[in-house]
Amino acid sequence: MSVALSINLNKIALIRNSRPGNNPNLLEYANQIVDLGCQGITVHPRPDQRHIRAADINPLKELCHLHPMVEFNIEGNPLEGALNDYPGFIPLVEAAHPDQCTLVPDASDQPTSDHGFDLHKTGSLLEPIIRNLKNQGIRVSLFMDPDLEQIRLAKEVDADRIELYTGPYAQAFSEGNHQEILSQHIAAAELANEIGLGVNAGHDLNLQNLAEYRSVPHLAEVSIGHAFTLDSLQIGLPSTMQAYLQKLA
Ligand code: PXP
Repeated sequence: MSVALSINLNKIALIRNSRPGNNPNLLEYANQIVDLGCQGITVHPRPDQRHIRAADINPLKELCHLHPMVEFNIEGNPLEGALNDYPGFIPLVEAAHPDQCTLVPDASDQPTSDHGFDLHKTGSLLEPIIRNLKNQGIRVSLFMDPDLEQIRLAKEVDADRIELYTGPYAQAFSEGNHQEILSQHIAAAELANEIGLGVNAGHDLNLQNLAEYRSVPHLAEVSIGHAFTLDSLQIGLPSTMQAYLQKLA
């Protein structure tokens, strides 16, 4: 089974936002990557709208609706409230009705996500949020470290999937000592599958570390932004997409 590739658009939005105007045009870029064969689009809106803006959401959702094989995934911290014209994470998700919502525990001012949920602390807070999103037909995934006890708790709070945080795996890979952490991800994915949770993964995945990460069983989707954007600067967008799709086939 091939693994779905969801492209995170944050970095493209970041470049756009660095100047007035609309260059690069996020929607045109999204159209291109859909035409090149990705199976998902991911956005991670933040209250300060430093990359994805609330106004980006509807056109991207409509694009995904035109391509039923392409899923729209919105990720973020469910506790983030409204700020200026940012409506708050949950109101934004409810209005957009994506295929998947990935809940992430990061603080609003964090440069990027860097840990999974501690569900001992936040499980009871998340449970009604998960129920509410699922009642609206939105699949809910929780950003998690490969910790078996925490993954059991993800099932208890009734998540549909987990997204395994791969940052530490990628770091270990770059240092050539990733076998132990890869085994932890394999065990985490096996447990998740056994108890009825789907498995996604993401953060710092790239063309080098993906080949071995592909040995993690039951992977449904990876979401990739940073490395994909950098690779497309080097070898162009079509070749980059082809290379990632090949790794995931
Ligand atoms: N998953 C989550 C929850 C993230 O926050 C990010 C970064 O926005 C990614 C995946 C993608 O990470 P990267 O940009 O390193 O590929």
